[in-house]
Parts: sequence; structure tokens; C-alpha cells
Amino acid sequence: MGNYVVTGSASGMGAEVVARLRADEHRVITVDLRSADVVADLSTAPGRESAATEVLHRLDGTLHGAVLAAGVGPLPGREEVIAQVNYVAPIQLLESWREALAAGAAAAGVSSKVVVFGSNSASVTPGIPQLLVRSFLNDRPRTRARVLKAFGGRNAPAFAYGASKLALSTWVRRTAVTPEWAGAGIRLNAIAPGAIMTPLLQSQLDGAERERIETFPVPVGGYGEAGHLADWVAFMLSPAADFLCGSIVYVDGGTDAYFRADAWPASSSLLSIPRWLLRARAFSRP
Ligand code: NAI
Repeated sequence: MGNYVVTGSASGMGAEVVARLRADEHRVITVDLRSADVVADLSTAPGRESAATEVLHRLDGTLHGAVLAAGVGPLPGREEVIAQVNYVAPIQLLESWREALAAGAAAAGVSSKVVVFGSNSASVTPGIPQLLVRSFLNDRPRTRARVLKAFGGRNAPAFAYGASKLALSTWVRRTAVTPEWAGAGIRLNAIAPGAIMTPLLQSQLDGAERERIETFPVPVGGYGEAGHLADWVAFMLSPAADFLCGSIVYVDGGTDAYFRADAWPASSSLLSIPRWLLRARAFSRP
């Protein structure tokens, strides 16, 4: 039995993850706007701080896993809320919980696992301005607002959503491999779902986005099921994922491959190799 925290637990994929963890008799603390052990608004700094502290208190400072599923869809006029909930919150919460995750790994003798919810919108939303993604990574909310105003137009919500998930995925990859995370026994990875039938997707289908979503290419057809995504998350929390680190696992019915078959994987530049090899001395093998 382990100690887990799940944000976005009241609905959709987060709720399915909670059900699986509890069925396996884990201790799970849930975080959401409503119907949760810890009720907190993750779009605000006080909400994030109280959630971070309350979770640590309830789990006695030891965590074996964390799932960051809370998220807001690309709704018009909510661009800064999207940024705060989808990007700022998971990072702040994880930074607050890092020591508890390291303590959990040390106590259990196996790695702790973190699964962050990204999205295939990070890579399949066309034309997200690089400057917008950088405004997330460099914590520049005013630049973010300016770029969205200048280049967003009616695409502003989709750009804000895609950029929040792209920057979050970049943060996961940069952070997962550091001594403070990989070296402390924490496996940090992201799942990138495609169109999954949940209340979040349903609210888009009920709005002006219906035609765009219904005609968006999904090679296997239809929509994904929240329960299937929860099965993937459960796998990424299991001992089978001990060697998974900094991966963005796409479960999207083939949409990303359809658009970007040749873009990834790609080989790294020769010029970058010496720098990375020097840094690699920090890692040891048994
Ligand atoms: P959902 O809408 O069913 O669940 C999201 C949960 O996040 C809700 O319970 C909601 O109350 C909570 N939440 C929203 N704002 C919050 C706030 N300010 N503070 C605390 N909690 C808040 O959505 P779904 O589809 O299960 O999404 C889960 C994650 O997967 C999200 O991060 C979403 O961006 C991502 N995702 C969803 C896709 C889909 O097609 N459904 C596709 C790709 C990614």
C-alpha cells in the first residue's frame, strides 16, 4: 500500500485513476475544486499553497506517487486560468512535493512515480507561437497576454491550451533527468492523451468547437475512453515503469503520428553531444 495524491480527481480521467488506486488499496488524497479530500482552486496562488501543504500534512510527508490531472480546456476568455491550472499548478505542486516523493522512494526501496497530464494538443495544434511557449517556461505572464492578443485572435484559447501543455511537457523532460529527480529515485513522466470522452471534451463538443473536433483526424477513429487512459497511468505508476524517465507517452489514436510521422524521433545535433557527455558523468551505474 502506498501514499498517492491525484489532482483533478472529481471528474474524467483523474476520477478513473483514483478508482483504480483505491481498488488496489492505496491511500489516495484527492485534490479538486469540489468533491475532494482537499478542496482547492489551483488557478490561484493561495489555493496551490494550501493544497501543497494540506496533502503533505495528510500523508505525513511521504509520497509514493502523484498524478497531476487537473486541467482546463481551451475555453474562450479563460486563457490565464488555463495557464495557471495547466502549467503553473502542476509545477508548483510537484516542487513542493519533491522531498516527500524522494522520502517515499527511500523508504520503499523502489522509485516513486509522477504522471503529469500533458496533451497531444502540445504538438498537433498548428502554429503555436514559440514566443508564447517561452513566456510559460520563463514565467512571463505579461508577455503571454501580449502574444495572445497580438497573434491569438479566435485561436487564443487553443494556443493558450496547446502552449500550456507544450511548456509543461518540456518542463517534465528537462526536470525528470536531473539529480534532484531521477537521482533521488523519482520517475517523472507525462501522458499525452488525444480526444478522450470526458466532461472536458464534452463541453467543447457542446460549444463552437464541435465541427473542428469531429473532423480532426484520429486514425483509429472515435474518441478514447477515460478508463483506458487510467489503465495507462496505473501502468506508469507501477514497478514496470522504474526505467521510464522523462517520457511523454502519447495515447491519442494516432493523431500525433498522422501529423508528425517524420518529426519525431529525430537525431540530436553533433554539436550538442560533448556538452551532454560531460554532464553524464554525474550519473552512476551499479
Ligand atoms: P475533466 O474536466 O473531466 O476533469 C478535470 C478536473 O480538473 C475536474 O474535476 C476539474 O474540477 C478540475 N479542475 C479544473 N480547474 C481546477 C482548478 N482551478 N482547481 C482544481 N481543480 C480544477 O477533464 P479530463 O478530460 O479528465 O482532463 C484531465 C486532464 O487531461 C486535463 O489536464 C486535460 O487538460 C488533459 N487532457 C484531456 C483531454 C481530453 O480529450 N479529455 C485530451 C488531452 C489532455
